[in-house]
Amino acid sequence: MGKPEITEEMIFQCFAAAQQSPDATRTAESFVDVEEYENQIMYPEFARWAKKAGHPQLATLFMKVAGEEKLHAVWLRELYDDIGAPDRGEDTQRAIDALTTIRANCDALIAMNPDGVVEKALRVAISVEEREYRDIYPRFRDQARAAGREREAEVYQRVVDSEAQHADWFRAALAEFEGGRAAVAH
Ligand SMILES: [Fe+2]
Ligand SMILES: [Fe+2]
Repeated sequence: MGKPEITEEMIFQCFAAAQQSPDATRTAESFVDVEEYENQIMYPEFARWAKKAGHPQLATLFMKVAGEEKLHAVWLRELYDDIGAPDRGEDTQRAIDALTTIRANCDALIAMNPDGVVEKALRVAISVEEREYRDIYPRFRDQARAAGREREAEVYQRVVDSEAQHADWFRAALAEFEGGRAAVAH
């Protein structure tokens, strides 16, 4: 029987992209939905994988970033009285479904190839953060600014800076992780 594989693409399906809408308030709701998903579901799951694979420091990093994703949602919520629990966005629901599917196989895969799963989770985390700070949230910032919502634009800019830092942390963690593996191989 072939060894089951978990691909980066499969893990990338766990990423939910916030959707820009012509209505800036709808854009904000999608932002909050996605950030809270990352805080409550995606990064805690990556942390669980890292811990199971025997990398508690990486688990700590994933949980640290999860905490900051929560803050991103809080910063924007502070500007609104009325974002209760935003509707679950279509993309977030799709991501949750993907993650549930992976979870069903993941524990077995982690047992077989722990470092492979963790390395892929790190690569996905880097590309998630890169998309957010390079593409998605700068557009949200510009939309808010064009609508004269300067405080909101400032929040998105703070988020862009923070997501860029997350990408840096994950790149450093991946380099260290690969370095550690190379040292073991030699
Ligand atoms: Fe975030
Ligand atoms: Fe982030």
